[in-house]
Amino acid sequence: AASRREYKVKDMSQADFGRLQIELAEDQMPALMSCRSVFGPSQPLKGARITGSLHVTPQTAVLIETLTTMGAMVRWCSSNTFSTPDHAAAAIACDSAAVFAWKGETLQGYWRCMEHALDWGPSGGPDLIISDGGDAILLIHEGIKAEEAYESTGNLPDPASTDNPELQIVLTIIRDGLETNPKRYHKMNERLVGVSEATAAAVERLHRMQANGTLLFPVINVNDSVIKTKFQNLCGCRPSRPDGLMTAIDVKIAGKVAVVCGYGDVGKDHAAALKEAGARVIVTEIDPIRALQALMKSIQVLTLEDVVSQADIFVVTAGGSKGIITVDHMRKMKNNAIVCNTGPFDKAIDMPGLESFPGVKRITFNPQTDRWVFPDTESGVIVLAEGRLVNLGCTISHPSSVMSTCSFTNQAMAQLELWMERDTGKYEKKVYALPKHLDEKVASLHLAKLGAKLTKLSKEHAD
Ligand code: NAI
Repeated sequence: AASRREYKVKDMSQADFGRLQIELAEDQMPALMSCRSVFGPSQPLKGARITGSLHVTPQTAVLIETLTTMGAMVRWCSSNTFSTPDHAAAAIACDSAAVFAWKGETLQGYWRCMEHALDWGPSGGPDLIISDGGDAILLIHEGIKAEEAYESTGNLPDPASTDNPELQIVLTIIRDGLETNPKRYHKMNERLVGVSEATAAAVERLHRMQANGTLLFPVINVNDSVIKTKFQNLCGCRPSRPDGLMTAIDVKIAGKVAVVCGYGDVGKDHAAALKEAGARVIVTEIDPIRALQALMKSIQVLTLEDVVSQADIFVVTAGGSKGIITVDHMRKMKNNAIVCNTGPFDKAIDMPGLESFPGVKRITFNPQTDRWVFPDTESGVIVLAEGRLVNLGCTISHPSSVMSTCSFTNQAMAQLELWMERDTGKYEKKVYALPKHLDEKVASLHLAKLGAKLTKLSKEHAD
């Protein structure tokens, strides 16, 4: 069903292998597969143009192909430069949708892919966006701001006006298209019915935009659905965390001291995984209740300053904050301490600060595994996945069943809800929670596959 099937992937010869991986994933994603049998015949997404900005993996392919089975046309890019297995991208390009993604994109390439995925030709952009991290939303908002400024002042956006390198790339992309198509992002916005967003940091930003009146379209917040937080966050990372460390650097975790910065759902999952793998875990927290939760699990709570020079592994799970681990901290760490982040942005670990540290040397000894050596001490730290999403950068990430249960079926449900209600005015330019009945529906779609039987509440019990 993909119109204007185009692609930019690394190697189309991997498509058959990618298809095998997708078939394996399908078997583990019963909720998405039952969406196909339930909604396939009636084609409720017929005519909908969906752009996805979400890691291109075999599991995502199952989501994409569920959407196309439901009638949608799809264009897709990744939401991270490292998270694409090239075989998955090749299989999607071959069989189901326009896709622009490969493992190891430059930041420039990443944003160009985003632009391609949003570009549905002269008639504007997508009707719906599936977002993970909010970058597609950012591009449209920045585009509209730039077009308004251009119209009123005649000035093109100036990438040098910001010292944020990613924003410089975004402004360059917008500037390059502005003179030939000065209303591009306005047209895109006029058409857009809504967005479903899957990450905590982006949802936080979207709430702020709603509060200051700058949010341009309805958003369904898939991130805070119960099914996502209590399954993907709380048990999704566990299988991939120790695997990420072991794949990247062949390190034995048992006996090591591991610091987990942040004890939210993801932090809890990581702390448990590292403990199971034999590490002595220490948590840092700013929230007294979460600190107490850690203590109740026999996990020590200290500050980073207390432990920075003693620990072997540092995992940041502190949401979208910046500077959780600074260059100063990294200089105080043991030689070859391992530093990684579960969040999408490279500011939680101060990567810009590390990269620009005078005389610092970067030695890449595995893909997405860099040793950064400080010139004066000759001591270094090992940073995984350039300080972003370590499980997606260094492993195959969450198992398919977790992705199906947790966020992908929710994404499909949210898209369907936005599309079906597009003319009713139900959704305004606000951030909405996923309706609870959809949360429960996603869980119930999985029960049969797991051999569970649900007890029905009798009237007497309910009374
Ligand atoms: P959350 O907001 O529930 O938990 C974050 C915790 O960090 C909170 O308890 C907060 O008090 C604490 N915190 C904030 N600043 C801190 C600081 N300076 N020092 C110590 N603790 C601090 O968030 P959640 O749901 O646990 O997600 C954490 C991160 O993991 C997010 O960035 C999210 O996007 C990411 N994530 C990654 C996944 C992956 O597969 N890699 C999957 C799901 C979420």
